[in-house]
Amino acid sequence: MQVIVLPDADAVGTYAGDLIADRAEAGTLSVLGVATGSSPLPVYEALERRASPAVRGLTAFALDEYVGLPIDHPESYHAVIEREVTVRLGLDPARVHVPDGLADDIEAAAAAYERAIVDAGGVDLQILGIGSTGHIGFNEPTSSFASRTRIKTLTPETRRDNARFFPSLDDVPLHCVTQGLGTIMDARSVLLVAFGAGKADAVAAAVEGPLTSMCPGSILQMHPNATVLVDEAAAAGLT
Ligand code: F6R
Repeated sequence: MQVIVLPDADAVGTYAGDLIADRAEAGTLSVLGVATGSSPLPVYEALERRASPAVRGLTAFALDEYVGLPIDHPESYHAVIEREVTVRLGLDPARVHVPDGLADDIEAAAAAYERAIVDAGGVDLQILGIGSTGHIGFNEPTSSFASRTRIKTLTPETRRDNARFFPSLDDVPLHCVTQGLGTIMDARSVLLVAFGAGKADAVAAAVEGPLTSMCPGSILQMHPNATVLVDEAAAAGLT
C-alpha cells in the first residue's frame, strides 16, 4: 500500500485527477470505479479542469446506491453520479452504471451488476472514500471480506454522517445496495482519498491497524495496488 500525504484537499484532488487522466490517456484505464460523498469531489473537479478526451471515453461503475430513494431524488446516487461525474467529466450516460436500489428483486439486480462489471472487463481503477466507521463502499463493520454486491443496513453513525445531505436524519435511507469488499478488491488498482481531521482515525485504522472486518477499509492492506491519498489532517493518526 502506498500512502501519499499532500497539504490539502485541492492537492489531493489534483494529484488524483492527473493520475486518472494520465492513465486514461496512456490507455491503461478504461473502466473507472466511482464513489459518491464529499471526498471524491475535488478529484472530479480536477478531472473536469483537465478536460481530457480520453476521460470522456471512460466507462464508470458506482460503488453504491440507497434503497428506496427515487432516482430523480437529488441525493440518490444515480442523481449524484449524473451531476458530479457524468456531466462534469462529459461521460456517455450509457456507459455510466449505478446499482439499482429500486429493483423488486434486489438480489438479482445485484448479481446483474456484478456481471456487468465483469462484462466490461473489470474495474481498472476504483476511487474510494472512507467512512468514519471505516466503511468503504457501504460495507459497514462486520462486512465479510469476501462479500459481493448486496443489500446492507447503514449504521446509525453513517446515517448521522450523511444526514447533512438530507432535510433531517429521518430522511436518510436505512438500507443501501453496495459493491462488496470482494468486488472492490477485484479492481486492478484502488485509490482511496480522504481529507480532514474527521477521517484521521479511520485512515489510521485502515492503513496501520489490524486486518479486521471491524474496519472494512483495512482489507486494502491486502490489495496489490492500493494508493491512499490523504491531506495532512487526515494523516494525523499515522505513525
Ligand atoms: C460513497 C461511499 C462511501 C463514502 C464514505 C465517505 O459512494 O461508498 O464509502 O466514500 O462514506 O463519505 P464522504 O466522502 O462524504 O466523507
